[in-house]
Amino acid sequence: MSRSLEGKIALVTGASRGIGAAIAQRLAADGAELVLHYGSGRAEAEALAASLRDAGHTAHLLQADLAAVDGGRQLVERLAALQLPRIDILVNNAGVALFAGLADTRAEAFETLVGVNMRSLFFITQGVVPLMPDGGRIVNIGTAATRIAFPGITAYSASKGFVDALTLQLAAELGPRGITVNVVAPGAIDTRMSAWIHGPGGKETLAQVQALPGIGQPAHIAGVVAFLAGPDGAWTTGQVVDASGGTKL
Ligand SMILES: NC(=O)c1ccc[n+]([C@@H]2O[C@H](COP(=O)([O-])OP(=O)(O)OC[C@H]3O[C@@H](n4cnc5c(N)ncnc54)[C@H](OP(=O)(O)O)[C@@H]3O)[C@@H](O)[C@H]2O)c1
Repeated sequence: MSRSLEGKIALVTGASRGIGAAIAQRLAADGAELVLHYGSGRAEAEALAASLRDAGHTAHLLQADLAAVDGGRQLVERLAALQLPRIDILVNNAGVALFAGLADTRAEAFETLVGVNMRSLFFITQGVVPLMPDGGRIVNIGTAATRIAFPGITAYSASKGFVDALTLQLAAELGPRGITVNVVAPGAIDTRMSAWIHGPGGKETLAQVQALPGIGQPAHIAGVVAFLAGPDGAWTTGQVVDASGGTKL
């Protein structure tokens, strides 16, 4: 097992389940100390922290509702209370989906989407960058749907377009400090968010659109994040790295 992140401290947002939990497990396995953020999934986050500690890793827990207007600021304040010396790696993973087209997108759901996928990501990054040493890493979780048009996820895709654009700007702004900023763009991944995969026609749809067979797993995304967060990713910045099994190539 590689210990390439030994001595590093990583914050993963939305680490209570799905892709975020897999990223946290992978970065811990690579040697990092983990700060696990969660929103409402306290029991799941506590179970993950306990399993990491049982395996000999260090894990801290951090709650914040990122749909709230000041959710990002709250997270940063609670992070400060942990009195960690620095954050070397920030993984902005927390996100919500909105399965709606233009006509059926409602303002309340749109507001939650903006809060979690855009506003909180921005202000968490703003608050964490000053805690980051030169050579730090920021990995944002986007979606392949900024490259490919899929029906029925109109506002969601656009919210991730914000993440792509912000990543490019931040890569240039933080480059002089040796901080890399990249996006990992998953296709359909087997989590609660993409439960449709196991519904009628789900697997057939994947077989039609993906070059690779099978169903994308959270560990597939965690592997790409680990690369970008580790020493091998040192010369890659401002990129959107597709991890979609070759969806609609
Ligand atoms: N699964 C896919 O097919 C897919 C494809 C492309 C991109 N992505 C992206 O991958 C990331 C992870 O998605 P996932 O599939 O792992 O989804 P998931 O299983 O639904 O997990 C979402 C995570 O985000 C957190 N979160 C959601 N709303 C929150 C809020 N208001 N406050 C705080 N935390 C909140 C959740 O925490 P709590 O439960 O603790 O509130 C949970 O840990 C997202 O950015 C998503 O857009 C997923």
